[in-house]
Amino acid sequence: MIGTNKIKAAVFISGTGSNLKALYKFSLTKKSPIKIDLVISSDKNAKGLLFSKKKKIISKALNFKKKKTIENKILKYLEKNNVRLICLAGFMKILSKNFIKKFKGEIVNIHPSLLPKYKGLNTHQRAIDNKDKFSGCTIHYVNQKLDSGKIILQKRVKILKLDTSKSLAKRILKEEHKLFPKAILKMYS
Ligand code: GRF
Repeated sequence: MIGTNKIKAAVFISGTGSNLKALYKFSLTKKSPIKIDLVISSDKNAKGLLFSKKKKIISKALNFKKKKTIENKILKYLEKNNVRLICLAGFMKILSKNFIKKFKGEIVNIHPSLLPKYKGLNTHQRAIDNKDKFSGCTIHYVNQKLDSGKIILQKRVKILKLDTSKSLAKRILKEEHKLFPKAILKMYS
């Protein structure tokens, strides 16, 4: 797709932004249906912001403690700039039901487990403690219930005997970087 008619996407981050990097790289390819118009971080110190600013993407660190005000500010910007996709990529805040209802496009999230197993946090340790054979990652639509929207794509990752949550997280993160672009292609194919 040529740059001009690509779907405008906003990426929400809170930390490293490795998924943001993967999405950005993908967005530059011809087959990508999206281009990244905006990066929003819930943490002003997020490393991902260094990346987005280096790539000259409009980047904002917002204080989600003032959730209602901030969300309304974001909705206005997204509406005005015709942003139709929000990618939650390592975003550690919970968007309000009102925001999800008001936003006129799609919101998708990457979750480091094979949903519906292990919603919420500490997914890797929970899978290891449960002696699961597999864990993995999921890209899903965001709805008003945490980590419960329609699943778009998943990738299984074998849990190795000596895995710690750190070693498992590292392997799953690599798969996340491949899964997110694949899920976006699937959404708009
Ligand atoms: C990833 O494990 C992702 O699954 C979770 O946040 C972690 C960090 O992501 N949602 P990133 O490196 O900031 O993209």
